[in-house]
Amino acid sequence: MENVKVLADDNAEQNGGGSSGPGGKGAKVEGRIEEVLSRHPGAGRDALIPILQEVQEAEGHLSRESVIKVARHLALPPSKVYGVATFYNQFRFQARGTYNVQVCRGTACHVKGSAAVLDAIKRILKVEPGETTRDGMFSLEVVACIGACGLAPVIAVNGEFHAGVAPEKVAAILNSYKRRTAA
Ligand code: FES
Repeated sequence: MENVKVLADDNAEQNGGGSSGPGGKGAKVEGRIEEVLSRHPGAGRDALIPILQEVQEAEGHLSRESVIKVARHLALPPSKVYGVATFYNQFRFQARGTYNVQVCRGTACHVKGSAAVLDAIKRILKVEPGETTRDGMFSLEVVACIGACGLAPVIAVNGEFHAGVAPEKVAAILNSYKRRTAA
């Protein structure tokens, strides 16, 4: 898995950023990350989670480069930062897909069988939560209650809610998005 490679080498920071060229998207993202870090001068380990949350918000996910920058800022080994980040479901290490599939695992959805729905999606897309399909079309995310408990179990695809989702319905739902892309 790509994630495992991310920070196998704590010395990777010596290799620098590796974002896309000057003035490109990478540079913009890099600028936003610098901005996040500048809001936390002299921060210590306590600030790790809030900083990672802000970086993820700025970047959409936590890239290798951003984890290294955060580690450098907090004077921690990158592997430590990566280890903490992987402990929490809220962090993702790959860019979102064209369609981001959120599976609610709140209590109401759990009671109505969301675990089986999640399993079906994982099986069909061949990804785990936090990952993106190889073709970049779908990313999968597990979320807490998304405020539509009366419709449980619920999934949301790019913010479009699907109510009362049974595992057998998952393929048709995902195919409908594939067709949209093909159209
Ligand atoms: S628990 Fe799933 S929408 Fe509330």
